[in-house]
Amino acid sequence: MLVFIANNYAELSREAARMIANAMREKPDLRLGLATGDTQQGMYRELVRMHREESLDFSRVVTFNLDEYIGLPAGHPQSFRAAMHKSLFDHVNIAESQIHIPDGSPCDNFDEVCAQYEEEIRHAGGIDLQVVGIGKDGHIGFNEPTSSLASRTRPKTLTQQTIEDNRHSFSPGEEPPAAAITTGIGTILEARRILLLASGTAKAKAVALAVEGPLTASVSASALQMHREVTLLLDREAAANLQHLDYYRKSLEMTRKLTPNRLW
Ligand code: F6R
Repeated sequence: MLVFIANNYAELSREAARMIANAMREKPDLRLGLATGDTQQGMYRELVRMHREESLDFSRVVTFNLDEYIGLPAGHPQSFRAAMHKSLFDHVNIAESQIHIPDGSPCDNFDEVCAQYEEEIRHAGGIDLQVVGIGKDGHIGFNEPTSSLASRTRPKTLTQQTIEDNRHSFSPGEEPPAAAITTGIGTILEARRILLLASGTAKAKAVALAVEGPLTASVSASALQMHREVTLLLDREAAANLQHLDYYRKSLEMTRKLTPNRLW
């Protein structure tokens, strides 16, 4: 894993957007996996700015979001579909047909909906670059603790911790969803490159367990240890519990010298 430590959230957001923009310039038809959450909002704002001011071109990019709540009415402002449109898609030149988000509307065959999503990813040629956030409990996507490390897209029950973490986005008195469709850990690990963003003290424990703890289904993000091309972009607070910060810094310098193509 390559570990970058940004000075603050603004720098983290700019760096993340710069990495994505570089990947888009290298491969204009990038298959881009996206996450919805507070962490990515600064990155999306920066991507929108780059589109407006630097002509960053989304016209051939194809996106796949990691997850969607189950049971929110269509168009609900807190659905991940609505949130993604508000923060990114409505402001850049991407056609609706190139946007993929799991469909969490009530249905009697979620297995089919999920298998179809996996098929859409396969049909597009797989994901080139997957952006993920991390939950306080170490989840990526909504792969809550004890999710199979081989899991595929499926409905997932959210832990009470995740439900409480999501509550601030909902109106007072409105109950946040208790389940979501999420791509699986197996699905995420098939992406060619993975970029994990984490910001703030609340994520420090999960980040340390994911990077330096044992590979375990109790911390879904630890599965990233199995992937060859993972970059972590953290701010100082999120990196605070890591034990080997000096080593990560040196390793980054060495990578710049020896294999700069691994950097974006
Ligand atoms: C959302 C997702 C989740 C979030 C995670 C962190 O698409 O996949 O794993 O990335 O819950 O959320 P924030 O960034 O809001 O702390």
